[in-house]
Amino acid sequence: MNSTAGAIAAIRKKSGDALCIMGHHYQNDTVIRHCDITGDSLELARRVPHISATRIVFCGVYFMGESATLLAGEGRTVHMPEPDADCLMSAMIPIRLARAVLEQLVRGGRRIVPLAYVNTSLAVKALTGEYGGAVCTSANAETMLDWALKRGEGVIFMPDKNLGHNVANRLGIPQDERHVLRIDGRGLIEPESQPLGRKILLWPGACSIHARFRPEFVEQARVEYPGCRVVAHPECRQEVIALCDAAGSTSFLIKEAARVAEDSPGSTLVIGTEENLVHRLAARHRDRCDIFPLSRAICPEMAKVTEEKLLAVLEDITGGRGEPLAVAGELFEPARLSLTRMLEVCGK
Ligand code: 13P
Ligand code: SF4
Repeated sequence: MNSTAGAIAAIRKKSGDALCIMGHHYQNDTVIRHCDITGDSLELARRVPHISATRIVFCGVYFMGESATLLAGEGRTVHMPEPDADCLMSAMIPIRLARAVLEQLVRGGRRIVPLAYVNTSLAVKALTGEYGGAVCTSANAETMLDWALKRGEGVIFMPDKNLGHNVANRLGIPQDERHVLRIDGRGLIEPESQPLGRKILLWPGACSIHARFRPEFVEQARVEYPGCRVVAHPECRQEVIALCDAAGSTSFLIKEAARVAEDSPGSTLVIGTEENLVHRLAARHRDRCDIFPLSRAICPEMAKVTEEKLLAVLEDITGGRGEPLAVAGELFEPARLSLTRMLEVCGK
């Protein structure tokens, strides 16, 4: 153990039950080894309301810390080692534009239900709550899209068009019932020329890490590793997912690796998602099967969180200098509503 790790371990020991360190699976191993709770977006959100520690330190990107702040009980504060780590996709949906587009869509009286991926700002979650919608994660997007479709004449899925397409495919909603919105800095471009009457309206955002996987990569993997199984995260393009053997959230990919290791020793699994996770799974199951990344893919924002920054935030907290995440008062309730709707629909 290096001195940073030793210092973190000492603070954790001294803090006991008063401190809980949470980490998303995309964090690197030097951070993950200090976490009391690890998970994908859904698992972490589900755990937060039940945490009794008064200080929660969240290792992940900003929207995850914000969601934890919304869901943490009375008297709990959330701190982040690197509050500047910001999901690149959540930045693709500025609140001013999201509001302008939603207002344009409902102007004619059509009942549009917003469904916001958890990878969005607090303000977008609040807007979603205000318009009767809910949040979803990649693990429950099918259930939540089905929920939203039953409540309106159409759904606007924000901001990941790839996840939106993949979930619509799973629900059997045809391509001609979907439309990727054409938007400029002010709102919808020529709304009268866009097929806005379609069931699923997709915000034109994407995760630049997952969107870089291309169909040829899957074909190439099958040549390189004959007989391999290929699985990927649903933030990948639908053309990629169509060539994979299965797709699912981060927790699905983890379970899939464990299942392949158990059921098919000696086989090869290729995983299309963030590389930190793939390397961890490869190391975990190396005695049973081979696991390779579909391509290089490190999320630079997740990588901003380091063991040194984790130690620094812990020292600040124990020294009484720790600044918790603050959530703008007027956004708190509508944003929380959109998150709790998700937890209620999917079971807490
Ligand atoms: P999960 O919902 O699978 O945790 O994914 C979050 C994310 O940011 C994927 O890029
Ligand atoms: Fe955001 Fe993509 Fe990074 Fe996930 S991998 S946090 S979606 S930029």
